[in-house]
Amino acid sequence: MDCNIQIDMHKHSSTTTHEREKANRGMVLSRMPSRIAQIKLISRHTEVYEPCDDSFALVDALLADRTNLLEHRPTICMEVGCGSGYVITSLAIMLGQEVEGLHYFATDINPHAVRVTRETLEAHGVHAEVICDNLASGLERRLEGMIDVMVVNPPYVPTPEDEVGIDGIAAAWAGGENGRSVIDRILPVADKLLSHRGWLYMVTLTANNPGEICSNMRKKGYASRIVVQRSTEEESLHVIKFWRDADVQVQAREPIITDRRPPMSIMETLLSQLPQLPFWGSSRTRDGS
Ligand SMILES: C[S@@+](CC[C@H](N)C(=O)[O-])C[C@H]1O[C@@H](n2cnc3c(N)ncnc32)[C@H](O)[C@@H]1O
Repeated sequence: MDCNIQIDMHKHSSTTTHEREKANRGMVLSRMPSRIAQIKLISRHTEVYEPCDDSFALVDALLADRTNLLEHRPTICMEVGCGSGYVITSLAIMLGQEVEGLHYFATDINPHAVRVTRETLEAHGVHAEVICDNLASGLERRLEGMIDVMVVNPPYVPTPEDEVGIDGIAAAWAGGENGRSVIDRILPVADKLLSHRGWLYMVTLTANNPGEICSNMRKKGYASRIVVQRSTEEESLHVIKFWRDADVQVQAREPIITDRRPPMSIMETLLSQLPQLPFWGSSRTRDGS
């Protein structure tokens, strides 16, 4: 199988949904501090992407994997494309209090997002180094091979190519052909920045062809699994976790003599049906979780 996706679906997690609903209504119980950023404390700007279903799916994926993240003992975490700061703040809250010496970085190409993210972090009493950057180009030399956890909710909406990277809020969603323009630029950057034990969590849409994304990452030696998948009226979102896997690296280096893998068209068909499938794949995961 070319794309070795394992599924661990945390669809409509009652705990996380309940927690966010309380946070949304400003009813977080004082005896039980929230493990994620509070919507009422998120800073805003008209040109900055507000937390939406995709942001919530990414945070839910991190919450679902929180025990593994804590056991993983990351040293440096990074978000690429931080927007309002909801995700990096949530990550810093859920890990920060329990892991010593943990550093956070966040980048966004939109200078308003950088300011808003700093305000959101400050409002929650957590810290990250927030940098205005195209992906993470300014950090590649400084942090090469050092990131243990990277999170990305990229611009993934299929749009005309000339809308990608334009100024302001449109850069938050414009993903070019198949929504893959920015995604396909992020993956090599992630590969360069991730440590040998690095994990990448990325939001994708069915239209992005997640099977092909996993297949491309597999060629670089990464295994993958879907941590959260969620369908709305408009879109079907997947949060995919990637991690380096020694077996995958060996397979990726070996020449393929007999191709026993299912054709990609079958893989694509399966992936397009994921929202309807109750379960697909092995429950055994090899990322330590
Ligand atoms: C879909 S929004 C996600 C925002 C936030 N992470 C969240 O989940 O709510 C995508 C973000 O990526 C940023 N972005 C787009 N292209 C970028 C690039 N080349 N480098 C860095 N950030 C970029 C946008 O400005 C936007 O804030």
